[in-house]
Amino acid sequence: MSLYTHVVRPVLFRMDAERVHVRTIALAQKLGASALGRRLLRRLYACDLPQLRSEVAGLRFANPVGVAAGFDKNGRAIQALAAMGFGAVEIGSVSAHRSDGNPRPRLFRLPDDEAIVVNYGVPNDGSQAVAGRVARTPISAPLGVNLVETNTGQAQHLDGVVAEMVEAARPFVGVADYLALNLNCPNTTGGASPFDDRAVLRDLMERYAAVPDLPPVFLKPTAHAEPARIEQTLEVIEPFDLVRGFIFNLPSGKSYPLRTPAPVVDAMPGTLCGPPVRQRLDAAVQAWYGRMDVDRYRIVGSGGIVSAADAYRKIRLGASLVQVYTGLVYRGPGLLRQICRGLVRLLERDGLKHIDTAVGAGL
Ligand SMILES: Cc1cc2nc3c(=O)[nH]c(=O)nc-3n(C[C@H](O)[C@H](O)[C@H](O)COP(=O)(O)O)c2cc1C
Repeated sequence: MSLYTHVVRPVLFRMDAERVHVRTIALAQKLGASALGRRLLRRLYACDLPQLRSEVAGLRFANPVGVAAGFDKNGRAIQALAAMGFGAVEIGSVSAHRSDGNPRPRLFRLPDDEAIVVNYGVPNDGSQAVAGRVARTPISAPLGVNLVETNTGQAQHLDGVVAEMVEAARPFVGVADYLALNLNCPNTTGGASPFDDRAVLRDLMERYAAVPDLPPVFLKPTAHAEPARIEQTLEVIEPFDLVRGFIFNLPSGKSYPLRTPAPVVDAMPGTLCGPPVRQRLDAAVQAWYGRMDVDRYRIVGSGGIVSAADAYRKIRLGASLVQVYTGLVYRGPGLLRQICRGLVRLLERDGLKHIDTAVGAGL
């Protein structure tokens, strides 16, 4: 039991979940803006372990553990998150136009499952505003920007969705180190998946390829392990060098074995995140790693990582990098150091000298 789980979390969990999120970001923004705050965060949470440094998509990562999209939607806390030692900071999802997201309440905790149900619907300040903000506060860790179509509450015309995704990207050229394209956001347009259509995905790739100086792109499709669907995506993106890898989105819904009683879960609209999704996301990492060109693409694994063992499993299944979100809510900011130190111990246990040698090594 840490100070966080023992003392801080019980207090936070008495407050509305979204309110805690907003206040956490505000506090992080304040701390990150001051040199003293950053020094404090570095001292409390960061660790520097040479065995964990790696290069992915031409970018240098001090360790493989990044913050997943959705935590710092508007790029307010990037200085604090970088000072805490995260290997990468992915902000967003950001859309071309600002959006208020879905009606509240839209964020729920399931403490018995260490899980969260999220139905935010990607509220954000819009790509111009967010790009301007992060451009003013450069950080040393790679900055990822997760892009999505604007949530209007209704399914949009496909051509409009593609145009919006490109429009959202433009302000981040020269600002973001990589882009993550949220292809199947479960919280917008009723979870529609326009990019499952190969023609729409090809159109998106063609229009991205025409943007000058675009940073490396990761696709974030819904996690699945279906060989035919994986092959279809790989085939469509094959001619496009801009795609450097994959992150997996959560499948829409809450159909997992849970400890929380069904009527409680049923009353929460949205998508489940945290340990119950781990197995499904692990299966996606394994399936994609087994089919993709591993010299060309890399996987960023997320979903239910709350320990070094969880991160290490994803890495051995094929992830070069990992991301955490729900684990931070339940285990606190000390999770990063715990995972990094634990990863080094696991590498040593297995006689491996560097994290790169564990990627795709199998279980
Ligand atoms: C509150 C919340 C908001 C999220 N918002 C986004 C988002 O805006 N865009 C996105 O691509 N993923 C979003 N995600 C998904 C995370 O990026 C991550 O893929 C997912 O939560 C799985 O990791 P976890 O089990 O460690 O939480 C969100 C997750 C949570 C919990």
